[in-house]
Amino acid sequence: MNPSSLPPSVHRPLFHSQIGAIFAAVGSAVGLGNIWRFPYEAGQNGGGAFLLIYLVLVFVLGVSVMLAEFFIGRKTHQDAVTAMQTLAGKRSAWIIPGYMGVYCALLINGFYFVVAGWTLEYLYQSASGAFGSNRTSEELGAAFSLFCSNPLRPVFWMLVFIGMTHGIINFGVQRGIERVSKIAMPLLFLILLILGVRSLTLPNGMQGLRFLFTPDFSQVTGGTFLCAMSQAFFSLSLGMGCMVTYSSYFEKSTSLVKSAIWITLLDTLVAVLAGIVIFPAVFSFGIAPTQGPDLVFITLPSVFQQMPFGSLWASLFFALLVIAALTSTISLHEVFTVYLQDRFRFSRATSTGLTSFACVVLGVFSSLSLGMLSSFTLGGMTFFDQLDFLSSKILMPMGALIFCVFVGWKIPPKTLQAELTSDGIYNFRIFPFFHFLLRYVVPLAILMIFFGGFLRN
Ligand code: PHE
Repeated sequence: MNPSSLPPSVHRPLFHSQIGAIFAAVGSAVGLGNIWRFPYEAGQNGGGAFLLIYLVLVFVLGVSVMLAEFFIGRKTHQDAVTAMQTLAGKRSAWIIPGYMGVYCALLINGFYFVVAGWTLEYLYQSASGAFGSNRTSEELGAAFSLFCSNPLRPVFWMLVFIGMTHGIINFGVQRGIERVSKIAMPLLFLILLILGVRSLTLPNGMQGLRFLFTPDFSQVTGGTFLCAMSQAFFSLSLGMGCMVTYSSYFEKSTSLVKSAIWITLLDTLVAVLAGIVIFPAVFSFGIAPTQGPDLVFITLPSVFQQMPFGSLWASLFFALLVIAALTSTISLHEVFTVYLQDRFRFSRATSTGLTSFACVVLGVFSSLSLGMLSSFTLGGMTFFDQLDFLSSKILMPMGALIFCVFVGWKIPPKTLQAELTSDGIYNFRIFPFFHFLLRYVVPLAILMIFFGGFLRN
């Protein structure tokens, strides 16, 4: 394939600068996955042991899959579906992972916006001083379940979140996504640092760190590896075309290898920092760390309540979650929006509107599935849980696998190397090693972890 064979849709906006591109991609990667999900997954899977497995998987599988996606996106400058078609040919079955990706984005939106809405409610409650009163953790737990199962309030906050995302996406790639990411990311790191210092200076904070960093391998099973792998892909926004889409806005002068390493490092840093914020605080107040998804919404508020200036810390923490979630929902929304724009030639406004509409429909059902519609389950899972399970445990690992096999086996190594080095502007000395990883190690590892996890679960 040579660039002149690309269709006219390549004349699309690009991120202004390399730093803007990295901020946008880090914004996508850093999200509820890092701050809401990583700490409770670590808590449930043996703390330090999970962290260790996670780190290995992120840097071996994560970086490789990200580079494969970057190749597909920047080479074609197209949405995930059209990009696969351009590289593989019109009638090729390789277009399937493209479709899996854009629809997976929609499924993730279906539950992600719900949790993002909760963060707004909790920010509102913190700022209005609700965590100043002395409620017990049972009372806080009951308040959280009552809130989630309420048919109106979470739906209202979810709609607000979809509205904010819609507004930003409507502004386009440079004036919307890039501009917001450049403000949001530095702010997020600042808040995280302030909270980290606060948490570490609490009495008994060290016990929390010990929990996070001392590996307990007795709790490791095949399921732990699957959890760590799906968490790695989810956290880095991989396996569903999000990084294909964002890299389609990268300039030729953007170094793909450097960007992939920076994004992975920063994303992992935020997950670890979130653990450093949460576990010392939790241990300091003598609360059990092995909570599930409600760690952040029940355990932490009870911690904040007992701290001096609790409302302030609670507000900062939930503001952090809102910012993290927003830069991720933007990217999830963009994947489907630009797919509609490229494939069907809809205008930006129409594509944005259609995507938001789909998010509202899925989001309303998944929010209600935690209350009014909770008796409608499939395989013991609510609609909310099904969306989560299907996207992160099945579609993302499979998508990641197929992207790797495609780039590793179908793309001539010279073409791949040329794109990854921007036609020789940048060095990539370990390319042969990377190519070997992409062809053999990563696909085999994904398959083994995938089947191992399900068989032994
Ligand atoms: N990476 C985001 C997070 O950790 C979630 C996400 C997944 C965003 C897939 C985009 C694509 O919260």
